[in-house]
Amino acid sequence: MPKVLCDGRELALAPGENLLDALLGAGVAVASSCKVGACQACLVKATRGTPPSSAQQGLKDAQRHQGYFLACQANLTDDLTISLTTAGELAIAARSSRSTRWHRTSCASLCDRKNAWSTAPANT
Ligand code: FES
Repeated sequence: MPKVLCDGRELALAPGENLLDALLGAGVAVASSCKVGACQACLVKATRGTPPSSAQQGLKDAQRHQGYFLACQANLTDDLTISLTTAGELAIAARSSRSTRWHRTSCASLCDRKNAWSTAPANT
């Protein structure tokens, strides 16, 4: 059973459990949204150990080389030490990410529509 060290806390992942679910289950405040590897909200950084390559798909080469990976796509087989991505790091890491730009645009569009729907007068 792989173990994860995160901000001084050690977590043991259950068989088949991905890192995001383990973090959330332990009460760690980690950002997430789609949980399918598309939005990159759950981006975390491996500071010791090698993240699974399957959890780095869609990331920029620079992000992969720096140890960033997607917690929702990480089914670990080896122990890993991670750091949660700060808002500033996330903004820098996502700045040139096409999928994150798409997500932000789509979410903004959806939120605008939702707000329009919730403020529209009811049909009479
Ligand atoms: S929650 Fe969207 S990529 Fe992980």
